[in-house]
Amino acid sequence: MSVLTELLDLSDKSLYRAAAFLRSGGLVVFPTETVYGLGANALNPEACRRIFQAKGRPQDNPLIVHLACVEDLQHYTQPLTKEQKALMERCMPGPITFILPKSPIIPDLVTAGLPTVALRIPALPQARQLIAYAGVPVAAPSANRSGEPSPTTFEMAYEAMYGRVEAILKGSPCSVGLESSVVRMEKNLLELLRPGYFSLEELRYLGQDLGFKVMDSSHTPIKDTPPPSPGIKYSHYKPKTPLYLFSSLEALSSLPPTLSSPIRILYSREALTEKIGASPLHMKLLEGNTLEFKDLSEYARNLFIQFYQADREGIGTLLAWYPPPVGIGLALRNRLIKASEGKFV
Ligand code: TXA
Ligand code: MG
Repeated sequence: MSVLTELLDLSDKSLYRAAAFLRSGGLVVFPTETVYGLGANALNPEACRRIFQAKGRPQDNPLIVHLACVEDLQHYTQPLTKEQKALMERCMPGPITFILPKSPIIPDLVTAGLPTVALRIPALPQARQLIAYAGVPVAAPSANRSGEPSPTTFEMAYEAMYGRVEAILKGSPCSVGLESSVVRMEKNLLELLRPGYFSLEELRYLGQDLGFKVMDSSHTPIKDTPPPSPGIKYSHYKPKTPLYLFSSLEALSSLPPTLSSPIRILYSREALTEKIGASPLHMKLLEGNTLEFKDLSEYARNLFIQFYQADREGIGTLLAWYPPPVGIGLALRNRLIKASEGKFV
């Protein structure tokens, strides 16, 4: 690839410059609260085609269209009910994407030929400012190469997209660290298709008094036991370092000898409610090459960064705790299963 890439900060002047690239058919990588996005003018099919090329993404996977404010939602969907509008106003801006019947103005390439469009209003103010300056809706998948973990730092986004886009905006590490919750919205039904930071519990709470039924269709295994081997179709977000999951610290005391070292363990403090100390071996493991996060949010914020780091530091095996399906735990489980192809120790 040989596109000249400008590196820009998040000043007003830089956002304005990046917006001009978007308006003229260019690609811009920008931070959001979830992950970095790879943006193009959603109304320009040629510009959107370049997104698929830059990512190496199959064209049957539709893009999320990002907007600056809730007032703009109605331009890109079929007419909304009062309840639909009210719910979206409660949730947006935020780490959530709604799937709705599209208006004809959205090109088929963006929705991969589907009659629906995915709409999101990011919580990060500079992301909304960029979209407002562009004056067009911005189609943006995560800014990783297809199949790899989503970038949650400037460094990760730079490595994936330098030389493929007109500009990369440098923000802080993303505060959420996992992609938005994707929710299909019908007249009285909300269907969670991809879990994210915006939790199922929160969606139920906010949807309830507006008369919405909430369903989890994300197909994340919800039992505490390891799921049956899910197979290759789950591969996504994958680090190059072999990754295995563990449900309880107990499992660490009988690790298979075939695991390559050095081994790095990722878990959050919630995992410690189980009794530890019983085995000197797992105490030793936890003292060693281990990252303990203070809670599930910190775990989520750091997961993709740790995948990236492990690949660069020559870690032999990553062992990651598979948390309970509560709050952002549901999203962590979804990403962990896909990244590990469902492998548990
Ligand atoms: O947090 C996020 O959502 C990030 C940031 C950049 O906003 N974006 C993101 O985009 O994760 P992407 O392309 O990596 O994931 C979009 C997901 C895909 O799983 C896609 O299949 C689904 O949304 N999607 C998009 N349009 C859809 C539609 N019309 N119906 C069903 N699923 C759709
Ligand atoms: Mg993605």
